[in-house]
Amino acid sequence: MKIGNAIAAIGECMLELSADGQGAWRLGHAGDTFNTLWTMRALLTDRDADYVSAFGDDPFSEQQIAFLRENGIGTAASPKIAGARPGLYAITLDGAERSFTYWRADSAARQLASDPAALEKSLSDRALAYFSGITLAILDDASRETLFDALRSARSRGTLVAFDPNHRPRLWQSANAAQDVIGQALALSDIALPTFPDEQQLFGDASPEQTVERLARAGVGEAVVKNGEDAACLFTDGNIKSVPAIRVSDAVDTTGAGDSFNGAYLAARLLGHEPGEAAARAHRTAAAVIRVRGALAPFESLREAFAI
Ligand SMILES: Nc1ncnc2c1ncn2[C@@H]1O[C@H](COP(=O)(O)OP(=O)(O)OP(=O)(O)O)[C@@H](O)[C@H]1O
Ligand SMILES: [Mg+2]
Repeated sequence: MKIGNAIAAIGECMLELSADGQGAWRLGHAGDTFNTLWTMRALLTDRDADYVSAFGDDPFSEQQIAFLRENGIGTAASPKIAGARPGLYAITLDGAERSFTYWRADSAARQLASDPAALEKSLSDRALAYFSGITLAILDDASRETLFDALRSARSRGTLVAFDPNHRPRLWQSANAAQDVIGQALALSDIALPTFPDEQQLFGDASPEQTVERLARAGVGEAVVKNGEDAACLFTDGNIKSVPAIRVSDAVDTTGAGDSFNGAYLAARLLGHEPGEAAARAHRTAAAVIRVRGALAPFESLREAFAI
């Protein structure tokens, strides 16, 4: 059976409040899996892209769905939950230090697996389905099982499944719970895109190479372990290779760097580039993202960075 060419990311897109420095707040939309889809949307111009989540029915949810649509991103069969609303976070700047305050405990996205048939439909016939450890952390046990079932089913029909563990300790009840669930996610993923400091914290890996070895034991065949300004560790066809990052002297804001790296890597792979070339393009794209404020860079700058 031939699989479609559409792509999907699954998770939570939040409202983002950022201070403009003059006492006013600017409203945006961001969230790890959404940021990755944003990059793929920019780079894969001839593919349909959907953000698979759950949405509320308040004016802010409507505004978020409209924002996605204006940028060429659909919502597939994502449920609309009466009385629910989006999660929210605010970025506070104290000098160059950023801190985040979250209101997300009862966000609509936590119900993204509340309708198993709708979720299965949203993920059917995809070239790629992308999710993260944050997607898993906001779900209860039963919802997580529903998502895993839908991903396994899509994968068995040819969908490429990609995963970033993106460990955020505050979202988990315990490190053991996070380890267990992330292990299950790795077992059903074709491509893993973690960041070394997250893995070091959760699993105690001593080096990116050790992270790769653990991923390989979990059954992952292709992986890139990012490491900030240091080289990424690429694992493909049983071999490990180091891919240096771009030197950036004028970094403004590293928010979303890892997410855009993932989006560019996956876009490059879908365009037929080899893993080494895909990782090099991903570094260039992430380097462009850390030169702009916020998680989302304009489509044009993403395309420019990716292509050169
Ligand atoms: N200081 C930097 N200089 C150059 N490139 C950077 C820098 N920081 C990040 N990058 C680029 O971004 C990629 C991802 O960075 P990092 O490992 O910090 O991701 P992350 O922790 O997953 O980020 P986040 O989850 O906050 O989006 C790196 O592989 C590199 O390409
Ligand atoms: Mg990350």
